[in-house]
Formats: sequence, structure tokens, C-alpha cells
Amino acid sequence: MKIAVMRETEPGETRAAATPETVKKFISLGADVAVEAGAGAGASMADADYEAIGATVAQSADKAAKGADLILKVRAPKVEEMRGLSKGQRVISIVSPHGNEKLLEAAASAGVDLFAMDLMPRITRAQSMDVLSSQSNLAGYKAVIDAAAAHGSAMPMMMTAAGTVAPAKVFVMGAGVAGLQAIATARRLGAVVSATDVRYAAKEQVESLGASFVTVDEEAMKEAETEGGYAKEMSDDFKARQAEFVAEHIKKQDMVITTALIPGRPAPKLVTADMVRAMAPGSVIVDLASEQGGNVELTKAGETVEVDGVTIIGHRNVPGRLPADASALYARNVYNFVSTFFDKDAGAFPSDWEDDIIKGVALTRDGAIIHPLFGGEAPSATGNGAASDDDGADASAPNADGAEDQANGEAHG
Ligand code: NAI
Repeated sequence: MKIAVMRETEPGETRAAATPETVKKFISLGADVAVEAGAGAGASMADADYEAIGATVAQSADKAAKGADLILKVRAPKVEEMRGLSKGQRVISIVSPHGNEKLLEAAASAGVDLFAMDLMPRITRAQSMDVLSSQSNLAGYKAVIDAAAAHGSAMPMMMTAAGTVAPAKVFVMGAGVAGLQAIATARRLGAVVSATDVRYAAKEQVESLGASFVTVDEEAMKEAETEGGYAKEMSDDFKARQAEFVAEHIKKQDMVITTALIPGRPAPKLVTADMVRAMAPGSVIVDLASEQGGNVELTKAGETVEVDGVTIIGHRNVPGRLPADASALYARNVYNFVSTFFDKDAGAFPSDWEDDIIKGVALTRDGAIIHPLFGGEAPSATGNGAASDDDGADASAPNADGAEDQANGEAHG
């Protein structure tokens, strides 16, 4: 099997789909690997690093992709790039397929089999392949670092001869993968951290990280989580009380990190313009939901704006701001996925189109869109990513219902 690792073409995309570490493992599996020149440059990985472990370096995208059975990317090839690929080639990448139906059609009409890492079912068996988790984790960390860098005060309490520096107050809204990492990072830096979420399960996780959990209604929270572990849209009454509470709480914060998402919906608006204006000048908000519409009314995706002295940071592609780690984790997710479904005898991928993980991520096959979310054939009884074979799921893990949410079009933003 020949594997091609492509250079990313999206402006600002710093990550790479394979690292020398994973390329070496692919070669050990028996694959030939061609890396497009410059593929790792954004993450400080030189062509020579790939060459040193046995890959060949191709000087253009066409040369790298020529004859490749499997093409690895971070972002899906664009429509025009898809047209340049050959029938039967398989592409693995983050696709963001919702609203991107033209790309799926282009893949199908080029005869390219497209696999979306971002549709990975959230079951225990697929945890090592879960790119949403690996990338959100880094985003949560980086959000705190970005907030600290933009703030005029230190994070930890400092006792100095000139007096005491008070610890920063950090409020994290949304305590999923990114939020929990943001809490842990802010705590490590010495901040006083509070957090909120609509899911009751998040309370214990937040408290176990040494942060205080704040909410308006614990009883309502018990109903707020799907069996799959995702948040539901809350009632208007809850939202109104939450807004009132947030307005008061946020005034006292130095930094606010927002991470709240509801699968398949725009990000909930949690911080209004008035709330921002009520914050002390010098405060900083980092909105990790900026690409899904933002949790903060005044967020501008891809920009940093200042409103009455309050800085609102809305970076896109936050994991890409840590290109080395983001590439290392993404590349391992991809390697774990490919090696799990690599048929060594036939030198082919995937070994089993009927596996629930493959069914969860395969968008096109043999010239047709096959994913049930996009008009493909309905899944088997166990469903897309259903956890029927998932014997070790932990309590917080989305299970069959999480998969069902996805099959109903509520795939993770
Ligand atoms: P997410 O990215 O969909 O949302 C982020 C957080 O925002 C969630 O905790 C959600 O409850 C919260 N949120 C939504 N609306 C809110 C509101 N109005 N106010 C405050 N918070 C709000 O979530 P993520 O990070 O993908 O995690 C979802 C669940 O999946 C968690 O229970 C997590 O532990 C679990 N998980 C399981 C995995 C597995 O088993 N393989 C892998 C990754 C996560």
C-alpha cells in the first residue's frame, strides 16, 4: 500500500497529518510513504526528518498523490483538488461535512472514498482515534495561555516585598473536553477558577480539578444531558436565569474562557454585549466557540476585538496554534485508525466496511455518498458508532445515543 502525506493548502493551517513517528510506523506496517515537500513545515518537521526514517519526499502534490492508495490530510481536499485525484483513492482527513455537500459530491464523482476523522464515533474502542477530543484538549490549554498573554496581570498569587499580587479569577463556561483542560491549566497557573455547564456530570469533574462549580439550577441540569453525554438545548426559563447569574458572576472575573457547544446547533449565546460592557477594563474573554458562531455576542471569528477595554479573542483553528502537539496527536489518531483497519495480507484499507467505526466515518465509496447523514444507505441495527460492542465505556462517554444524535444530524460542530 502506498500512502501519501499531503501539504495543507488551507491558509493558516499549520498542522500535518503525519509525523516522522507515525510515518515510521506506517512503514513498519509494510506501506510505502511519500510525503509532499513542506508537509510538516508548519509544525517544524523538515522533509529530511521524514526522509531519514524511510519516506520519499515528492516535490508537488500531484507527484505525492500519484499512485497513492491512501491520502492523509488534516483538512479535506478542496473540490478542485478532489477532481485531480484518481478513482479508487482513499482520503482520510477532517471534513466538517455539514454544509459541505458539494465536496462530498465532488469526492463521489471523482470516485474518491472519503473518510471524516471528525465523525469518529465517541465509543471507547475509538477513543485513540478521536480527533475532536485530541484537538479540543489542546485548544482548552491554549485558550488559557492566550488569555494570560493578553491580560495585564499575573495568574498566580505572589507575595513580594512590595506587596501581594492577587490571583487572577478565571471563569470557564462549558466543561467538556476543552473546558476541563482550560480549568486544569488555569489552576496549574495558580488562578482561582470557577466553571459552569448545563450537564450535571460536569459538576464533579470540575470540582475534582479544584475549581468551584456554579449553576442556577442543579435539578434542571439532571435533565440536560443526552444519554450520549452531550448537552441538550435548555428551556427558556433556564436560559433567562443563567443569563442573570452570568451577568453578575462575569463582572468579577479577570478572564473568561467560553467553550459551550450543542451538537448540530449554533453555539449557545451565553455572554451578551451588555455583560461584556459590565466587565472591568483589562478583562479578557477567549471564545473557543468562535467558529460555530461564538458564545459571546461580540466575538468576531478569526479576530481580536476590544470593547470598552475588554479584549475578546476569537481565534480560528486554536489547535493549529500549537502545531507540533496538534500534529503529533492528530497523526496518532490517524495512525490508530488506519492500523486498526489495515489488512496486512491484502495490503489494503479498510479491512472491514461493515465495522461501526468505518460506517461512522466513511462518507463516500465507489462513486456514491454512503453516509446515512448525507442520504446514504441506513446503518445496520447497531447504527453509526453505536456502542453495542463497547464493553468498557466510562460513565461520561457518549454511547449509542451519542451515535444516534449524530445519525440524526446532530454531529459535533
Ligand atoms: P462539546 O464540545 O459538545 O461542548 C462543550 C461543553 O459545552 C459541553 O460540556 C456542554 O455540556 C457544554 N454546554 C453546552 N451548552 C451549554 C450552556 N448553555 N451553558 C454551559 N455549558 C454548555 O462537548 P465535548 O467536549 O465534545 O464533550 C461532550 C461529552 O462527551 C462530555 O461528556 C465528554 O466527557 C464526553 N466525551 C467522551 C468521549 C469518548 O467516550 N470517546 C470523548 C470525548 C468526550
